[in-house]
Amino acid sequence: MFVKINVASFLVALFVVLVEGSNVIESIVEDHEHSIGTQWAVLVAGSSDWYNYRHQADICHAYQLLKKGGLKDEHIIVFMYDDIAYNSENPRPGVIINKPHGPDVYKGVPKDYTGKNCNAQNFYGVILGNKSALTGGSGKVVNSGPNDYIFIYYADHGGPGVIEMPVEPPIYGKDLNEVLKKKHGSRTYKKMVFYLEACDSGSMFEGLLDKGLNIYVTTASKSDENSFATYCAPKDYEDTCLGDLFSVSWLENSDLQDRRVETLKKQFRRIRKRVLNNGTEGSHMMEYGDLHIHNDALSKYMGSNSPQHTSSSTNNYPSNSRHVNQRDVQLLYLISKFQNAPEGSIRKSEAYRKLSEVISEREHVDKSVKHIGQILFGVKNGPEVLNIVRPAGQPLVDDWDCLKSFVKIFESYCGSLTSYGKKHVRGFANMCNAGIQRDQMDAAAKQTCSS
Ligand SMILES: *[C@@H]1O[C@H](CO)[C@@H](O)[C@H](O)[C@H]1NC(C)=O
Ligand SMILES: *[C@@H]1O[C@H](CO)[C@@H](O)[C@H](O)[C@H]1NC(C)=O
Repeated sequence: MFVKINVASFLVALFVVLVEGSNVIESIVEDHEHSIGTQWAVLVAGSSDWYNYRHQADICHAYQLLKKGGLKDEHIIVFMYDDIAYNSENPRPGVIINKPHGPDVYKGVPKDYTGKNCNAQNFYGVILGNKSALTGGSGKVVNSGPNDYIFIYYADHGGPGVIEMPVEPPIYGKDLNEVLKKKHGSRTYKKMVFYLEACDSGSMFEGLLDKGLNIYVTTASKSDENSFATYCAPKDYEDTCLGDLFSVSWLENSDLQDRRVETLKKQFRRIRKRVLNNGTEGSHMMEYGDLHIHNDALSKYMGSNSPQHTSSSTNNYPSNSRHVNQRDVQLLYLISKFQNAPEGSIRKSEAYRKLSEVISEREHVDKSVKHIGQILFGVKNGPEVLNIVRPAGQPLVDDWDCLKSFVKIFESYCGSLTSYGKKHVRGFANMCNAGIQRDQMDAAAKQTCSS
């Protein structure tokens, strides 16, 4: 009798394998495990200021999506400076939207890490579930177990190997990947998905993210490519942008599609074209880490939804919406302020002064970095060396401590590198890669900026 039952169940199992394929069994097993695990999310807007409206709008939109998807507030941890909703420039006080005529996405968003608590140290502590590492904020951390699913989404400015936070220091690629490795070592998740939007965002993982950590990453752009703001200068918001291109593309796709059916891979393919935007004012999305994870349904990370019924969903966005290179949105803001001020007014001259100040600040950073490069590598070779892009699969720099110290040395003589100037981090990385020593860098920066 026993034998018969075992044979029968063996045959049933074999039948399932043969007929339906092993994917089905895998997904049944996974669904079961999923049902006992918890879904966590960490959402990070790395900027502050009105002209950066879009990053906090993206993050708030993501919160609404996850919340509607069934994730619990105690499992969604939000980092945002929180200076947008009640900003004096907001035409709709208390409201944040993520597309023209879009719904309010601000209502109900948990204020876990706001203001100066929206910082890198808290971000690491939250991911690692280490409450004693926190410096303030709500104290919510990813207190996850081995069967849990974690979704991390970050939107902001970045540069090669670096992404910003509203307060110093920024997050370097090496440190972020160390934190992820440590999280994996603590065996406190089953799988993790990380979506990252920033300029040069691929460089945060290129040659850095180990395989086998059960982490799948999508970035908005390659290692050496800008990412783009979108929904720029719509009516009533002429001086800012309401979203970022990769961010609103995945968010709107996740709102629209049935997330129990749509996989990460399908989402990647579906939005890739929109993000590339014909190769003009668009970027190449990238994937890193354990790519097999991209066969998972979105619902594992974002919860499920009642999909909106439309036949073709991909073209359902304003195709004439304005895109602006993330690094230039501040100029859009300042130019708009200048244009809209009445002729001859104090506001006009004030706006002009501010615009000139920012433009000369940019020129100062560009010229200073170039000059340092020329001192170190020669007038002709300098610019060339600073612009070297390493082949795919290689990290930006071998010695990250060298890179960090070179940025510090630069700032000590030449002033803040600024968000705009973060694009020059590759130049500093290449100085380190070429074996330049700290005292050489110090002398070159001093010669360039202290006269
Ligand atoms: C948690 O953070 C504290 C403070 O940074 C640190 O000393 C401690 O080692 C961390 N604990 C773990 C388990 O990583
Ligand atoms: C994209 O490129 C195609 C072919 O080059 C062109 O026909 C189309 O108008 C472009 N679309 C946009 C939005 O620029």
